[in-house]
Amino acid sequence: MTEAPRLPTDRFSRPLRSLRLSVTDRCNLRCTYCMPEPDYEWLPRSDILDFDELERLTRAFASVGVDRVRLTGGEPLLRRDLPELVDRLAKIEGIEELALTTNGILLPAQGPALREAGLDRVTVSLDTLRAERFQAIAQRDEHGRVLRGIEAARELGFPVKLNAVVVRGFNEDEIIPLLEYAREQGAELRFIEYMDVGGATQWRSEQVVSQDEILATIERCFGSVQPKVVRESAPATRFVLQDGTVFGVIASTTKPFCATCDRARITADGTLLTCLYGRLGVDVRAWLRGPKTDEQIREDLARLWRERRDRGAEQRLGIAERAPLAKAEELRGNPHLEMHTRGG
Ligand code: GTP
Ligand code: 5AD
Ligand code: SF4
Repeated sequence: MTEAPRLPTDRFSRPLRSLRLSVTDRCNLRCTYCMPEPDYEWLPRSDILDFDELERLTRAFASVGVDRVRLTGGEPLLRRDLPELVDRLAKIEGIEELALTTNGILLPAQGPALREAGLDRVTVSLDTLRAERFQAIAQRDEHGRVLRGIEAARELGFPVKLNAVVVRGFNEDEIIPLLEYAREQGAELRFIEYMDVGGATQWRSEQVVSQDEILATIERCFGSVQPKVVRESAPATRFVLQDGTVFGVIASTTKPFCATCDRARITADGTLLTCLYGRLGVDVRAWLRGPKTDEQIREDLARLWRERRDRGAEQRLGIAERAPLAKAEELRGNPHLEMHTRGG
């Protein structure tokens, strides 16, 4: 009998469990905390991984420990025939959960086919309940469609999470209304600290509303909140209100979760990043389009993971004068540094 190969862990004993697959770098919004610039350099179309390549790569990741896959973008619903990809990934042995992070606009149109294809969960970005404010943040008049997308997801029976990036001067006065809206929708809201990553070229430390501040605001309104212990490696710390409502805070800026980070990400053109803040990626498109066998790809992934030392967000804590990770001029020459290319 041959022994099953040991699953790799990295230099800090972190396993590889979660894969974020960006399926397109394009987006139909221009959120100021993510894609504030007027022009972007897009990944060349011929470099975008096709569904055969994405399926093969996901199988390889599953064989080294990945059991959760999240489809991201840009906006993943802009990728043509996405339900077909969902169908193919959902059937891969070892993949226990297939989720999607979306801006919600195309969910009423595509939700039914995605559900049918085997998508398990959706997370929708929602930073404001006010249409005029949405226009200011996302630079597009699409607030009504986002809200309809959230309702469609709920009606289809998807477990729904909502992501709200809290930016001082934009929406910190909506912490309570967003929480009430999520409760009505039966969705779990996560407040996200504004991160200085990728295309967040307008990031300033004064605009970060910290987890401590978010919790203080919530406790003033609803009384004390209790932490809720769940999956250790998740970016969100979860809390419960006295009435049982659960919400999360993703404190990547002030309290990073690097110590338990078990995620890898693939850009739409097949660049593997072992950290959201990583500057250099590995070109796995070349592996997929070259002579490597499945077993060689498996071994290469395992080796890369064993060598991993990333703790990007933790390292940024040590910087005294913190500024955006990349400047607009640098981003123009390197789309791989963008948040929307890295899948958030
Ligand atoms: P689940 O835990 O499965 O619900 O998903 P998620 O919260 O990881 O995914 P989502 O796409 O909703 O991301 C939420 C926020 O977490 C975004 O602001 C991301 O930028 C941030 N985030 C996601 N992955 C990472 C990561 O690897 N490192 C850091 N520092 N932040 C991340
Ligand atoms: N800081 C924090 N979160 C961000 N996202 C995009 N840019 C940033 C940023 N600079 C979030 C999106 C989406 C998730 C994938 O990442 O709002 O919900
Ligand atoms: Fe993981 Fe890097 Fe994010 Fe830390 S900053 S949690 S190591 S991806």
